[in-house]
Amino acid sequence: MKYNKIGIFDSGMGGLTVLKEMLKRINGLDMVYFGDTARLPYGTKSPDVIKQYTLECSRFLVEQGIDMLVLACNTASAHAISMVRNELNIPVMGVIEAGVKAAVSTGASRIGVIGTTATIKSNTYANAIRAIRPEVDVVSKACPLFVPLVEEGMFDDEVTELVAKRYLEGLISYGIDTLLLGCTHYPLLRGVIGKVMGNGISIVDSAATTAAAVARMVHGEYECKESPDVVYYFTDLTQSYLKLGELVLGRHMDNVIKVDLDGR
Ligand code: DGL
Repeated sequence: MKYNKIGIFDSGMGGLTVLKEMLKRINGLDMVYFGDTARLPYGTKSPDVIKQYTLECSRFLVEQGIDMLVLACNTASAHAISMVRNELNIPVMGVIEAGVKAAVSTGASRIGVIGTTATIKSNTYANAIRAIRPEVDVVSKACPLFVPLVEEGMFDDEVTELVAKRYLEGLISYGIDTLLLGCTHYPLLRGVIGKVMGNGISIVDSAATTAAAVARMVHGEYECKESPDVVYYFTDLTQSYLKLGELVLGRHMDNVIKVDLDGR
């Protein structure tokens, strides 16, 4: 049996969309979630800082005894996955590969990718899509206001819709047939994004596709526990974070711990 505990990392609450999908698909395996809420957002930061923060958080999760790490953050996956894989002796899964595979398998010919500024600047999605299907037309758009809107819980709000219209109008007029949500916060805006995009455009969510890939990887490779632990660590913790976390997960969060990465 290879796996006892999976670590899931995000800069904040967005990775809970991946954890939620994992909990639907994987029964009886301990999980540890880590959200670097004190230093969010990562998407506006430089590649060096994203790498440094991601590595620190990944090492913390390894100290908690995980034997697989899911980088449930596109920004961290885009910039830091190779370095984290080199540094850690456990399997590390990112969110980009699964999302790209799902998007290209729809038979799409014109894919729109949305993500944080850092993810879009890295060109990771566009390169990964073109590596599999060079004939696909890829157009990318950074949507920096989406993360703060999600962290404020404004999933279905007229301000969010206005912002979505502003960000997405160029992709609509370009005639994309598939929209890839390249940020784990964005599945929470799926309603508004779907409304703005209209019918006929498939929306691919990298949270669900990554969870499905992790479930395939661990299948039959762990001892199924009757009451597995789910522990949540955050570098900052407020009542509103907790409320948001429970809203995203759709379940009560027991075992929530605030961690000080420098002082531990
Ligand atoms: N959830 C992160 C992602 O998937 C972005 C949040 C942030 O900017 O920190 O890229």
